[in-house]
Amino acid sequence: MITNQYLQSLADKSVIRTLSEWSTARGAEIGYDNVFDYSLGNPSVPCPPQFTAALERLLQTQEPVALHGYSPSQSLPSVRAAVAENLRRRFGIPYTAAHIFMTCGAAGALAHALRCVAAPGQEVITFAPYFPEYKPYVEGAGLVLKVVPPRTADFQIDFDALERQLTPNTAAILVNTPNNPSGAAYSAATLTRLAGVLAAASQKWGHIIFLISDEPYREILFGGKTVDYVAKFYPHTLTCYSFSKSLSLPGERIGYLAANPACEMADKIVPICAQISRGIGHNCPASSIQLAVAECLEQTSDLTVYEKNMELLYAKLVALGFRVQKPGGTFYIFPQSPEPDAVAFSEKAKKYDLALVPGDSFGCPGYFRMAYCISTEKVQRSLPALEKLMHTEYPR
Ligand SMILES: Cc1ncc(COP(=O)(O)O)c(C=O)c1O
Repeated sequence: MITNQYLQSLADKSVIRTLSEWSTARGAEIGYDNVFDYSLGNPSVPCPPQFTAALERLLQTQEPVALHGYSPSQSLPSVRAAVAENLRRRFGIPYTAAHIFMTCGAAGALAHALRCVAAPGQEVITFAPYFPEYKPYVEGAGLVLKVVPPRTADFQIDFDALERQLTPNTAAILVNTPNNPSGAAYSAATLTRLAGVLAAASQKWGHIIFLISDEPYREILFGGKTVDYVAKFYPHTLTCYSFSKSLSLPGERIGYLAANPACEMADKIVPICAQISRGIGHNCPASSIQLAVAECLEQTSDLTVYEKNMELLYAKLVALGFRVQKPGGTFYIFPQSPEPDAVAFSEKAKKYDLALVPGDSFGCPGYFRMAYCISTEKVQRSLPALEKLMHTEYPR
């Protein structure tokens, strides 16, 4: 018999995917080049040549049975050591291979992190606007997702609202900075205060509340800024990283979980993850891809296009009268919709061949997301469409 829970979930399809499917269908009618598809967060730049070279060399020089064999349940030791060394050097935290667990993307890292620190029935708190897949990630682990309402003035944390959500049943806080969809990066002041709140709540409730830091966009920061590495602010942090965006490898499904060596039972986290893997199917990421990314830890794709696109869009949106925060990173921007119903706005935008994702599924109705991981040329061509949408549908 088909499981009812999943049968019902068919009615709850991803809004982003649905809009992306609309873009593809519209593209079949008028040519995909003429559809301004701002729906999906799929990188638009190639992986760095170093990745291709590393993979080619591995394929040509390594013995195939070993290269394509299962990796150990805790993932490949040499890769774990390379990641630990990279993080140690960049962020000054004394990670060793024992704290690193290679995963199938950030999704895989989150699947392990959530199960590692939260038991079914416990609560995980995140902040709106949030990546809509957090709901299935958290609920799929038998946990309860609680959402702190957005602080739309700057998309930092509303600490009073957070305090109201904390309960004795809170197991973890899930943050994503720089953020999908707002593009906001948490400031050092925000992270310092968050660490203080978590330390106090852990003491009050008598158990450690973990911080799960989802960081697929860590390398995509604008204005020459460098990241405030979340784990530096709070010891009980599990960092979930992905090479999907930094190396443009979303289809290769590769990332890692890094347990801060100062966290509770730090030496048990990776062995526990290997046990969790047995049950969830996110086990043993491809050996060849683990080895290839280990050679590219100092590399990124050429990410400059995203900042260029952001500047173009931001300037146009401001000129058209949108209320919008300038993103600090990622390849998303999250303006306020010109009418309170962002779903209605998104429907109107389709008439101008613009695919804009309403903020409702990000826990932030009245806003919409544009994923500008498309060519700059296409962003430029989309600006008159945006202008026409505003002038026709929302004349001042
Ligand atoms: C905030 C956030 N977390 C996690 C993921 C999942 O990333 P991955 O492809 O590495 O599984 C994404 C993907 O878009 C994301 O935007």
